[in-house]
Amino acid sequence: MTQMSENCTPLKIRDVEIRDIREIKKPDSSQPAVWFFVMPYDSSRIKVNLTDDFYERLNEFAQNADEQTILCFQTVPQTASELVLNLQGTLHYKLWISIKCKEKANRNCLLPYEHSELLILGKYKENLRHAKTRVPYTYCPACDKTTKDYGGKKHTYHEYGTLMSDVWRDITVAPDEYPELVVDRLSHLFGLPPYRELCVVDMSQALKYEKRRAVNKTYDLTKVNGLNEKFHNILINDDCLEALKKIPSNSIDYCFADPPYNLKKKYDNWNDNLDIHEYFIWCDRWLYELGRVVKPGCFVTVLNIPLWAVRHYEYLKEIMNFQRWITWEGLSLPVRMIMPANYSILCFSKGHPRILNFGHGEELLSLKDNYCLRQSCINSRENDRKPVTDLWWDIHRLKHNTRRADHPCQLPPALMRRLIALFTNEEEVVLDPFNGVATTTLSAQQMNRKYIGIELSEKYHKIAQERHKELLWGLDPFRKNGDTPKAKNSSVPRLKKQKYLVPKKELQLEVKRIVQKIGKLPTKEEVKRYSKYPIEYYENYFISWGEVCAAARTTGMVETRKSNKNNPKNKQLELF
Ligand SMILES: C[S@@+](CC[C@H](N)C(=O)[O-])C[C@H]1O[C@@H](n2cnc3c(N)ncnc32)[C@H](O)[C@@H]1O
Repeated sequence: MTQMSENCTPLKIRDVEIRDIREIKKPDSSQPAVWFFVMPYDSSRIKVNLTDDFYERLNEFAQNADEQTILCFQTVPQTASELVLNLQGTLHYKLWISIKCKEKANRNCLLPYEHSELLILGKYKENLRHAKTRVPYTYCPACDKTTKDYGGKKHTYHEYGTLMSDVWRDITVAPDEYPELVVDRLSHLFGLPPYRELCVVDMSQALKYEKRRAVNKTYDLTKVNGLNEKFHNILINDDCLEALKKIPSNSIDYCFADPPYNLKKKYDNWNDNLDIHEYFIWCDRWLYELGRVVKPGCFVTVLNIPLWAVRHYEYLKEIMNFQRWITWEGLSLPVRMIMPANYSILCFSKGHPRILNFGHGEELLSLKDNYCLRQSCINSRENDRKPVTDLWWDIHRLKHNTRRADHPCQLPPALMRRLIALFTNEEEVVLDPFNGVATTTLSAQQMNRKYIGIELSEKYHKIAQERHKELLWGLDPFRKNGDTPKAKNSSVPRLKKQKYLVPKKELQLEVKRIVQKIGKLPTKEEVKRYSKYPIEYYENYFISWGEVCAAARTTGMVETRKSNKNNPKNKQLELF
């Protein structure tokens, strides 16, 4: 077993083989069940052809199923994407999980494939119900500490392991093998009433591979246009749709977009809460423009959450050539029952893709799996790199405020450096229509590329200009600075800067001692009565009562393998 689910009774597993899609009929049980469809794909990732007939049958199947029914699909991202759109009338999207895939890497191709998707849809609208599930900590082969760095928060984490995220790298699947570990995990994850059974449906006999390649005729692929020098190294403060109109077709070497996600973020002057149809119509307009301005053979890449990437994929595949779906595992610390860490980077070429730099330069090397990201450990290591694949986990979102400019969601420069190294050569032109505080254009300039950065907000545009000036003066624009930025990525308020008379950890451990005394999580009144510290400390130093009680709700963990005796797994994962 590779996980521990709380209060669960593992589901009984029933294997179902389907030889023809006509065999997908009414669910044969009146009990609510979890269905796991294992879709076929081969190592060259030609996707299976899902016909209208298939979707009709699957929709009918879902309609007839109990209201609590869950449907899971293991497949390639393109198929997962089509499934979301074709089943959306009957089923609700719940989760998009990327699972590490142990396919034989083809080093000659653009990016070796290293993940498959597990798409989870449900008949009910509410949040997915599942058991609280932890996966054991893994240990860095170099320093023997947990692969994730929990810093000063170890007392608030569980000794067994960490809550799962939506990128599963601790287990692997292969296209031609029974996904035993996924089946085991699903049987625990959903091992709660009313479910009793997990039906595993092998679809390999019923579905055929699609050999047809898309031919896109939207753009002129015959000529490359020169770019006027006035567009070399320029930051434009405008709406990207307006600015893009002025850029000639077939003139840009690489376009990267990190658009607003329409998740109610507080941008300076952009409404990040559009009606969702309006949002996608708007997205299609700038995606079209990016496809227009990029040169034939060159790439457009778009970063978004998987559910929105599904919609971008649907639009882009009609006008450009799909190449890769990169999964970027971007989060660092556990939040929520299944941590949202999965970002999609869609890679499309205009017509047939040109040959890329794959394999050259330090940016195109990733850390070997299962090493930790502690800088002190990285500095002391050798031979810990391997060529990058389509599963990126070794670049974290900016964690420290000291490295942020005043913008709610800027990207880590290492991510942009990797993309730029992958898709461009020196002297080529990189365009970002949502340049924010210039992570893309600064990285491009540092890497000796030309850049065009478009940004709607004057405030962010000015910060971008200042940072480019710093670069000219020889300063590192991504250096640590002393300021606390005001802009925030999360809706949780920030506490004002203050001096802690007693460390927060000591206060949380004091609450743990109180729990031992009274046998339950304390109320504010009880902490007032039993704590040796004034209640004002608890009120002023923490964002919520949940944070006050964080250590009391768990066992606490240690980061070194040797001292972690209670961990039943003590796991060292395979090194690739
Ligand atoms: C997700 S952020 C990009 C952050 C950027 N990658 C960085 O690292 O700084 C999206 C940005 O798009 C900008 N934006 C929103 N609508 C825009 C539009 N119509 N044209 C240009 N920029 C826009 C927002 O102001 C915001 O700065």
